[in-house]
Amino acid sequence: MSQVLMLTVLVMFQIGDGSHVNKRFILVGDKVDPNNENNVTNSTPVQTNLSTCVSSQNSSSSYLDRAKCVLDSYPLIDGHNDLSELFRTYANNSVYGTDLYSDLRLTWDPIEAQTDIPKLKAGKLGAQFWSSWVTCGSQYKDVIRMTMDQLDVIKNIIRKYPEVFKYVSTSQGILESFNEGKIGSMIGLEGGHSIDSSLGVLRMYYELGVRYMTLTHSCNTPWADNWHVDEPGYNGTILGGLTPFGKKVVQEMNRLGMIVDLAHVSKKTMIDAIKVSVAPVIFSHSSAFRLCGHHRNVPDDVLYLTKANNGVVMVNFYDKFVVCPPNNKPTAELTDVADHIEYIRDIIGVDHVGIGADYDGIPSVTHGLEDVSKYPDLFAELIRRGWSDLDLQKLAGRNVVRVFRKVEEIRDSLSSMIPIEDHIPPQQYVNSDCRTDF
Ligand SMILES: *[C@@H]1O[C@H](CO)[C@@H](O)[C@H](O)[C@H]1NC(C)=O
Ligand SMILES: *[C@@H]1O[C@H](CO)[C@@H](O)[C@H](O)[C@H]1NC(C)=O
Ligand SMILES: *[C@@H]1O[C@H](CO)[C@@H](O)[C@H](O)[C@H]1NC(C)=O
Ligand SMILES: *[C@@H]1O[C@H](CO)[C@@H](O)[C@H](O)[C@H]1NC(C)=O
Ligand SMILES: *[C@@H]1O[C@H](CO)[C@@H](O)[C@H](O)[C@H]1NC(C)=O
Repeated sequence: MSQVLMLTVLVMFQIGDGSHVNKRFILVGDKVDPNNENNVTNSTPVQTNLSTCVSSQNSSSSYLDRAKCVLDSYPLIDGHNDLSELFRTYANNSVYGTDLYSDLRLTWDPIEAQTDIPKLKAGKLGAQFWSSWVTCGSQYKDVIRMTMDQLDVIKNIIRKYPEVFKYVSTSQGILESFNEGKIGSMIGLEGGHSIDSSLGVLRMYYELGVRYMTLTHSCNTPWADNWHVDEPGYNGTILGGLTPFGKKVVQEMNRLGMIVDLAHVSKKTMIDAIKVSVAPVIFSHSSAFRLCGHHRNVPDDVLYLTKANNGVVMVNFYDKFVVCPPNNKPTAELTDVADHIEYIRDIIGVDHVGIGADYDGIPSVTHGLEDVSKYPDLFAELIRRGWSDLDLQKLAGRNVVRVFRKVEEIRDSLSSMIPIEDHIPPQQYVNSDCRTDF
């Protein structure tokens, strides 16, 4: 990059002083080429102040100030938060009976309750894919009713706190809500078991606002293998990745404009899905297998496929996915999460890494990243390691916005495709009297 170009980029993004937020400049179509989220050279800044996100001091407090400044300049989009699950676990799904301004560690669980509004504000979260998850134990039973309840919880949270959250179902909506100072709130469906092998149900979830689906949770569906299949000693059913119907599910998600999420799936399912999907994929909450050999993480060869697919791996903060053999250590530290981020960057580039902390879905945490207030500390660590503001913005949200936009574009380009009406009869996979034979 030439000096002139570099200067333009700096001028573009190192504005705002961390307390006063100048957000106008990230409006879509205003400052950014809509066809290329990472093309930031074709714009004029609203205001220039080079001294703002940069500090001459080399100290941890100045790193933190700059981290907060960067997170004021572009939305941090987290790929996965299980708050709605904790509403089921600890509050019978009562949103109006729970105060999200209070410290829920005191009433719910001192470790698991990692999200509340004051902490979200301290953490400078810009947007969130709120997870709709229900246990695999509900598969073939009341999974759809339970999933509906969790979608309702997410919508009630947004409805109850309009001063904090804004419901979002488009990539543009993320940037708009950020400009309004609200946390853009999207819905991600964690687990293909929630569609009960019905493409009709998948389509109705899209209409209810679901914008990504993780193809499996930690159980197989009748059409996709989950990560457990890759574990030594696994002795259950192995489908061999995606079945022909599973490939139809991916194609229908492409048609709908629902992002394909490959967290939780087996390696073969990852490979099959990337092969079938004509849109970029995400890993909404997975780290690097090379640094921690847990099968929930992404192996190197799949990282390369993700780069070729133009997708994003959103790094998980769960200590068990951050530190494990071959890198055994007594505790997982914030610096270990930074290592995962840098590892993925080094292997496939900074355009393919993001954040998917998995808060409220993890029973133990990485030291230094205990709750949603801690994101700026992680960004400060990356600043200490020499990250540029633009690369930090890519990690925070630019990459995910790029994927989301492409998924929408592909949906629009497929508008003449008719809905896929393939089905697999329940009698083929469930032995139950609770099915209507019609
Ligand atoms: C730029 O930002 C710094 C720090 O916030 C402030 O002290 C300075 O006055 C600003 N300069 C201009 C020209 O706005
Ligand atoms: C950025 O966008 C401008 C205008 O759309 C285009 O002329 C330029 O080639 C793009 N640059 C890159 C690196 O994509
Ligand atoms: C800042 O300090 C770190 C050590 O804490 C050092 O490695 C780095 O080179 C310093 N950076 C600058 C710009 O002085
Ligand atoms: C949830 O409801 C059940 C009854 O269905 C009740 O026993 C339980 O105490 C409730 N839990 C909470 C946290 O309100
Ligand atoms: C299969 O694995 C489960 C769990 O690891 C174990 O309990 C069971 O005994 C195994 N079955 C066989 C036939 O090996």
